[in-house]
Amino acid sequence: QDYYANGNRELNRDYQQDCHLTYAMENETHTVITFSRKLHTCDSQDRNITEGTMRVIWAYHPEDGGSIDPKYHGSNRGSKSIRLLNPVKANDIPPQTPYFDLQNQNVSVPHYTDTTYWCQIFKMPVFHQKHHIIKV
Ligand SMILES: *[C@@H]1O[C@H](CO)[C@@H](O)[C@H](O)[C@H]1NC(C)=O
Ligand SMILES: *[C@@H]1O[C@H](CO)[C@@H](O)[C@H](O)[C@H]1NC(C)=O
Ligand SMILES: *[C@@H]1O[C@H](CO)[C@@H](O)[C@H](O)[C@H]1NC(C)=O
Repeated sequence: QDYYANGNRELNRDYQQDCHLTYAMENETHTVITFSRKLHTCDSQDRNITEGTMRVIWAYHPEDGGSIDPKYHGSNRGSKSIRLLNPVKANDIPPQTPYFDLQNQNVSVPHYTDTTYWCQIFKMPVFHQKHHIIKV
């Protein structure tokens, strides 16, 4: 079903249902669901799917919900930044493409918080002509 979340992270069923199940399968270890949706649904409760990087989030409850509204997922959740349209494949990038690493030195992630934000300024390598960043 097609839901949206408000600022308090509460889920509400969209008045306009735009997601269409095309495949579903479950075995002892995996649940696989395939669905389709228009890129622009004209529903103000949906985001447009664009050529840019989209943030995809997922969550699940360990028990089947049946026809009941989704239940809180607890820690069973995650996210991924992904280009849904025109995904960049590893072999699209020429092997001689220059790159550099930005790495924090000796930063311990604290064990007592769920989330740690770490700000760090890095000096870029010196370039003598214009370059485009094609991947981060
Ligand atoms: C369950 O399904 C997944 C996804 O199709 C597959 O990779 C896995 O081998 C299957 N496991 C069993 C025990 O059939
Ligand atoms: C989605 O795209 C349509 C058509 O281009 C546009 O009118 C609308 O404002 C966009 N909606 C959002 C939330 O960006
Ligand atoms: C990182 O910490 C180790 C152990 O304390 C130390 O030997 C090393 O010099 C540190 N490296 C940097 C870049 O600060």
